[in-house]
Amino acid sequence: MIPMPGNNHTLPASRRYRPSMTRDYSQISDTARAVDRFVLPRIVSYLESIRQTIAGMPAETPFVIADYGAADGVNSSRLFERIVRYIREVHPSRSIRLVYVDIADPASFDLFWEGSHLSTLDHVEAEYIQRSFYEPFPELAGRVNIGFSSTALHWLDTKTVDPDLFQHPTCIQANQLSGAECGRFVERWKHDWRIFFHERSRELVDGGIVFLASLTSLGADRWPASAGYDNLRDVCCSLHREGRLSDEELRAIFIPDYFATPDEMKSVLDEEIVRRHFALKGIDAITVPCAYFGRMQDTLENPEERRRLAHSLARVVRAWSESSIRVGLSFEDPGLIDEIYNRLADTFFENPEGLPYQYCLIELVRADNPDGAGE
Ligand SMILES: C[S@@+](CC[C@H](N)C(=O)[O-])C[C@H]1O[C@@H](n2cnc3c(N)ncnc32)[C@H](O)[C@@H]1O
Repeated sequence: MIPMPGNNHTLPASRRYRPSMTRDYSQISDTARAVDRFVLPRIVSYLESIRQTIAGMPAETPFVIADYGAADGVNSSRLFERIVRYIREVHPSRSIRLVYVDIADPASFDLFWEGSHLSTLDHVEAEYIQRSFYEPFPELAGRVNIGFSSTALHWLDTKTVDPDLFQHPTCIQANQLSGAECGRFVERWKHDWRIFFHERSRELVDGGIVFLASLTSLGADRWPASAGYDNLRDVCCSLHREGRLSDEELRAIFIPDYFATPDEMKSVLDEEIVRRHFALKGIDAITVPCAYFGRMQDTLENPEERRRLAHSLARVVRAWSESSIRVGLSFEDPGLIDEIYNRLADTFFENPEGLPYQYCLIELVRADNPDGAGE
């Protein structure tokens, strides 16, 4: 890295982490999309349980599905098409409103919607709300039938927290830490989830469902894409040893997410603040194998194939980490960013490893005081 005139690697005080994906996210997230096959049967069985409700809803009331942390909308589209088809079977002209929530710029969503099959369906409308899912959505109060969120609720609320939380001299993510260092992220994550459920409780109709496919840690290295995070940390540390990243930059390179364990999730769901409004209908931990590694693991002796896999894995990691890496750098240096991910691809080439995603599938039905919590 060639220091710019007047640049002494000092980070701006206003630095704030804003975890949004690269534009190619939906083309390089086959593993995230593969969770669909676990989610779909659960959603269909919920729809069957509310068949009468769907049939009897007043004509002017749309059936509302909200996707919290939707990115450009591509990854939930197959699932949403299936839900629309089901609702149409029950009530052919029922109007359906899809609400996409994300902090990202709407441009990618607009592009998706313009070309999507969903947008061609009669009585299906969409709305994109560019806002954090940790904030209130008064416009949705009491209107949402299905609240859905996949591969998003591990992102901490970076807007209301002191960015200094995300500082570490050698590690780049909370699950790489242990003891008290990790504990402060656990507390923050719990705080954020309480807010998430508080806000959703205002939006869901009575009997509506919140369906989450939330990334989770199953212990040891069994947390989502752990090899990707660890290799990325090692690349950043080697650039630091070479003097290409300052101490301050290495401290500030941090991906502001936390993969809670299923027990940690259960403990928040058992709190009165959640139980007052929701009945827990299911919580299941599953592992989705790495879509890229699985496809190519038999061809790794071929250097070209092995290079292709290494490139795909580095692209997967880049899709969700680049925005945070940029925050850590003291000035825009596209060459350095490319070098980080080229080195990451080299690491995967030398030691090909899959990036499986561990999930907790959670179903919560909105019901006031379902088990008398707090009475
Ligand atoms: C890994 S992507 C998942 C996208 C999609 N749901 C999927 O299943 O592939 C996570 C998304 O969450 C969004 N995100 C992160 N923090 C958020 C927040 N506080 N509020 C709303 N969206 C957020 C990111 O911008 C990103 O688009």
